[in-house]
Amino acid sequence: MAMKKEENSKMEEIISLTKRRGFVYQGSEIYGGLAGTWDYGPYGVALRNNIKSLWWKKFVTDREDMYGLDAAILMNQNVWKASGHVSGFADPLVEDLKTKKRYRADHLLEQAGFEVKGLKPEQMDALIKEKLVKSPDGNPLGEVRQFNMMFKTYIGAQQSDDSISYLRPETAQGMFVNFKNIRDSFSPKLPFGLAQIGKAFRNEIAPRDFIFRLREFEQMEIEYFVNPAEWRQQFDAFYAEQYSFLTDSLGLNPSKIHKVEVPDADRAHYSKHSVDTEFDFPFGQKELLGLAYRTDFDLKAHSEASKVDLSYFDEETKERYFPHCIEPTFGVDRLMLAVLSDAYTEDELGGEGEKRVYLKFSPKVAPVKVAVFPLLKNKPLLVEKAREVYQMIRKEIPATMFDDNGNIGKRYRRQDEIGTPFCVTIDFDTIEKDNTVTLRDRDTGKQERVAIGDITLHLKEKLLK
Ligand code: GAP
Repeated sequence: MAMKKEENSKMEEIISLTKRRGFVYQGSEIYGGLAGTWDYGPYGVALRNNIKSLWWKKFVTDREDMYGLDAAILMNQNVWKASGHVSGFADPLVEDLKTKKRYRADHLLEQAGFEVKGLKPEQMDALIKEKLVKSPDGNPLGEVRQFNMMFKTYIGAQQSDDSISYLRPETAQGMFVNFKNIRDSFSPKLPFGLAQIGKAFRNEIAPRDFIFRLREFEQMEIEYFVNPAEWRQQFDAFYAEQYSFLTDSLGLNPSKIHKVEVPDADRAHYSKHSVDTEFDFPFGQKELLGLAYRTDFDLKAHSEASKVDLSYFDEETKERYFPHCIEPTFGVDRLMLAVLSDAYTEDELGGEGEKRVYLKFSPKVAPVKVAVFPLLKNKPLLVEKAREVYQMIRKEIPATMFDDNGNIGKRYRRQDEIGTPFCVTIDFDTIEKDNTVTLRDRDTGKQERVAIGDITLHLKEKLLK
């Protein structure tokens, strides 16, 4: 129980810090919020952009076999019929018979201490009945039903069955329906992949855990097409790439990352084999990323439904077939939460027995890499010199900021809280003595004097470590 309290308080501290320092705000806050939506402030945007550009570089720019895409969010409803989402993209829903409040059946069973991995909705229903599981308000529960999570909307001025569309619940389908375009424009040879970053929407029954389970979120997905004989080899290679993205690109702690084989009953309708990567979030070990072997399910389904041939002619084997698909999928918001919660650190460096809170970001993801200050803001000579040094560093390290708000102690505290790895202070010695500045390290609090002529190179070397 004590552990639970600690976990909750860590989440509360993270939520409060990210709001106070301009990372994450509640969606529609001044109207009381909108469940399952959050807005990202300046440092949140910078952190997300860093995560997204590290991903794009690793999986698209640095490879020769990937094609970038940005498909529309709204798609023809037939896409979602053919993909199986209209009939099968659902979560198990159960209703409190007295209050009429609705819950995820698997969540209620988990909270009541039952193992739900691998259970089908009818098995959940039987378990609820057999064990007399109640709602959080202590009332009996109704039948477990399947609830489709797609947000439905209408296109144009007429509201009819023909004008139905959906906000996409995954970015993946935009890539399958563009398979032919890429094939025709670029004539790629297998194996090759399409990659896309974009918003996805799910009408989650129970959005929760801050930015973990959202109704509007962002995905980074790859549909990688292979000869079916090679699927296992490519699947394993992508698992290794996903892992190295988390540890090498984002700097996440390897001991918090877990590989979990998804049981048959929990796999999405299109997948023949799935491996999730779970992460130790403050509220427990939960799914961070997915990897699925989608076989030829989607290309075949879209070929049949659209009557457009999405097969591939293999020049080497002289065969025509539907390529099989390996899908590594990443959630930007969950990655952001993993990075934030892993970086959240408290130590005793606050001075006078006070605790210090800081975000121990890897320099690659830190929204601000370097902050430059004049020791005092009312001394024009110091300010002028500090601005000069700031402009000089910024040319080489764009994520550098100038800060002269409040006293130096407050500035250090603020920079620690937004996770800035290095602070550079211009003081009287800089001007009167030796043209050196103070360089402070976020993690150790240690300071060293560095000549202005060497500071940019020195910082670049440190940021690369
Ligand atoms: N195209 C495959 C697909 O969408 P998924 O496991 O349903 O697979 C992929 O979702 C990833 O998207 C998840 O691993 C997670 O990171 C993210 N994700 C899914 N639902 C989410 C939600 N409601 N809120 C935030 N992120 C979500």
